[in-house]
Order: sequence, then structure tokens, then C-alpha cells
Amino acid sequence: MIRPATPGDTPALLSLTAGTGYFKPLEVETLEGVLNDFHATNRDEFGHRCFVWEEAGRVLGYVYHAPEEMTDRTWYLWWIAVAADQQGHGLGGKLLAFAEADIRTLGARLFVVETSTTEHYEPTRRFYLKHGYTAAASIPDFYADGDGMAVFTKKVGGGP
Ligand SMILES: CC(C)(COP(=O)(O)OP(=O)(O)OC[C@H]1O[C@@H](n2cnc3c(N)ncnc32)[C@H](O)[C@@H]1OP(=O)(O)O)[C@@H](O)C(=O)NCCC(=O)NCCS
Repeated sequence: MIRPATPGDTPALLSLTAGTGYFKPLEVETLEGVLNDFHATNRDEFGHRCFVWEEAGRVLGYVYHAPEEMTDRTWYLWWIAVAADQQGHGLGGKLLAFAEADIRTLGARLFVVETSTTEHYEPTRRFYLKHGYTAAASIPDFYADGDGMAVFTKKVGGGP
């Protein structure tokens, strides 16, 4: 079941994210700040969205997306993750489709996501390509030397 994230979900989301083995400790710390800001202000003032997938009382995955300021209806996928023992069973795809449908109803035009160019993130890049995203750009050495940024985009709506 997909439902809106609550402040009580934050410890589970942090531990799920750390447990994927994909994110650096600093990124998990950043996520804690992102979630705190989400509940404090960003949801109500800036229209950020965060949803979790829960089964039998356990959070198995989540998605966080937000409108990008100073753009014409462009939205950013800030975070998406599925618990390590649940990956590869379609949950991430359902979360992504949910986020796309969610922003479409809010009038979105373009969905953008950034990820790493490293070998470790090859399955993640495959995930976006499989779901109809276009590899739009890449910036070498963006995160660190040898760790560039890969930008994927998908048109989610024509809009008026
Ligand atoms: C990327 C992620 C959200 C995808 O969710 P998922 O539930 O594992 O993916 P799905 O089952 O819906 O889709 C499977 C497809 O995604 C890709 N994929 C990405 N990561 C995968 C993984 N760990 N295991 C299996 N498939 C994975 C594959 O292309 C696969 O399709 P294929 O088997 O036909 O090649 C999830 O694997 C995850 O949390 N990864 C670590 C965190 C991460 O990279 N987040 C995104 C940061 S930008």
C-alpha cells in the first residue's frame, strides 16, 4: 500500500536507505535533513511530495519528488529506494509510476532525476531507461573525481 510519509517513518526510511548499500553516510545524513524539512515546511510551503510503500507494518520503499523552482512545470525525483531484500520485484517501478501519475495530476511537464555515472549505479541507470527515461546529459567528476552525474528525463505531460 502506498501512503503519504509521516514523521514517524523517518527512522525506517534512513535505515532502509543506508541498508541499500548505495548511499554514502553523508547522503543518508542529508536525507534526514530533507525529511525533517519536508515535514516542517517543504511539504506545505513548497509542494514537496513523499510517499512510502508499506506492507504488514514494514516500510519497503519510498519516493520523494518536488517541483523545481524557476522552471515551467519541471519536477525532480529527489529520492527513490527499495529495501535491499525487496529489490528487483517491481516495487521501484510501481513507486516510480506512482510518482509520475502524482505529478501529472499536478500539471507536471518534465520529470528529471540525477544519479551517478559509476559502475555501481549501472542497475539504477538501467532502471530509469527501462521505465522510459532518456539519458539527457552527464557531467564528469560532478560528485567526485571519477564519479559523474547522469541526468535522466521523461516527459510526463503535455500541459496546457
Ligand atoms: C533503483 C531501485 C529504486 C529500483 O527498484 P526495484 O524495485 O529494485 O526495481 P524494479 O523491480 O521495479 O525494476 C527492476 C529493474 O530495475 C533495474 N534494477 C535496478 N536496481 C536493481 C536491483 N537492485 N535489483 C534488480 N533490478 C534492479 C533492472 O533494470 C531491473 O530490470 P531488469 O531485471 O529487467 O533489467 C532500487 O533497486 C534501489 O533502491 N536501488 C538502490 C538505491 C538507488 O539506486 N536509488 C536511486 C538513486 S538515484
